[in-house]
Amino acid sequence: MTDARPIPDSLLITGGRVVDPSTATDRMADVLIEHGRIAAVAGAIPSGEHRVIDAGGRVVVPGLIDLHVHLRDPGQTHKEDIASGTTAAVRGGFTAIACMPNTVPPIDHPAIVEYVRSMASKTGACRVYPIAAITKALAGEELVPIGGLAAAGAIGFSDDGSAVANAELVRKAMAYASMYGLPVMEHCEDRTLARAGVMHEGEWSAVLGLHGIPTVSEDTIVARDLLLAAAAGAHLHVLHVSTAGSVRLIREAKRRGVRVTAEVTPHHLVLTDAAVQGFDTNFKVNPPLRSAADVAALREALADGTIDAIATDHAPHTIEEKMVEFDQAPFGVIGLETAVGVVLTTLVAPGIIGVSDLVRMMSTAPASILGVPGGTLSIGAPGDVTILDLDRAWSVDPAAFASKSQNTPFAGWSLKGKAVATIVGGEIKFSELEGEARVPAPVHRES
Ligand code: DOR
Repeated sequence: MTDARPIPDSLLITGGRVVDPSTATDRMADVLIEHGRIAAVAGAIPSGEHRVIDAGGRVVVPGLIDLHVHLRDPGQTHKEDIASGTTAAVRGGFTAIACMPNTVPPIDHPAIVEYVRSMASKTGACRVYPIAAITKALAGEELVPIGGLAAAGAIGFSDDGSAVANAELVRKAMAYASMYGLPVMEHCEDRTLARAGVMHEGEWSAVLGLHGIPTVSEDTIVARDLLLAAAAGAHLHVLHVSTAGSVRLIREAKRRGVRVTAEVTPHHLVLTDAAVQGFDTNFKVNPPLRSAADVAALREALADGTIDAIATDHAPHTIEEKMVEFDQAPFGVIGLETAVGVVLTTLVAPGIIGVSDLVRMMSTAPASILGVPGGTLSIGAPGDVTILDLDRAWSVDPAAFASKSQNTPFAGWSLKGKAVATIVGGEIKFSELEGEARVPAPVHRES
């Protein structure tokens, strides 16, 4: 957290529609935060001595949690750092994020976990939970010290960016991680099948003459890891699901009682491989944007609970890194500042999911997957609250992002719906509410 100001004793959020799936709440109510924790959710709480913010006409929800963010700190702070990434997070409505270990050096040693946690407590605008690597140096060869990393505060294990090819290592990681009650979070991709692919293998890759990444490269590792998780009784979390095949496998495994959870990104829910036709590298992402049939399967999986959570996979890269030929550009798009608007516009407004589903998938479920506090407005929970304006029309201007990077696939999109205030532990970290404007400036911006 950045602010040196003392945590105010109390904050009363009045007049909003409170939506909290964890307590089956959807009604007009006030929310009182005292000493950094939820103290009451009730009709017409007397304002007393409390600092009051008016949420009339808005929706008040448990603080959003993004379980998949690349903060690039340590080592690649020209792309993002903990201060800029968490500022982007609160401007996007997130009160907590989990950050991936493919930093330089990677988060494969307790000292790096401690670095991230201590920098986050000094310069972070929201809560930050580090995810540690599964293998040393993310090299896929030797297991990290799982116990030491868990003791230092890692909340899960992942070699995100690639899958761990060696099944025996995954089996061991699952066995050890489950001793600490932590998930193994796999980026499911068989490299021998994905080869030098740069986009989805299908009609568009043929038309564009680009190497394709077949859907089976993802499905194969999902299938393997579901079997390993079932055998180990471990919690497998499947990162950024992109194929209809993965959805089928996860659905069937859930029916059999395998401890599997899964996430999907807004870009995989909204865009298809056709977006690559202009060779714009802001549509180059791993896993790649898939076919319309895959997108339909992902949306169905959200609706039937096969996919538990929406996560951004916020993956910052600089303009210089992305302004190269499609083949050469790094994979990744940012998402912290657009996720809520994109989900509200493309999924909630047309009635594909409800507001309560959004909150479950972007707050309650991520808290439960990561085993962290939050995701609820129940009494005594952290005073982490997001206020949404479902009617706010805005357009995506990458130049205005707090993120140091601008590699969004949604540039220029007209969206309806936005996070307008973000409160962490009772402190207003971001607000565009009338009379409350508190918009943290982009930090450490390089020209
Ligand atoms: O597109 C991606 N970018 N996918 C990943 O798995 C890694 C990420 C990154 O770190 O840039």
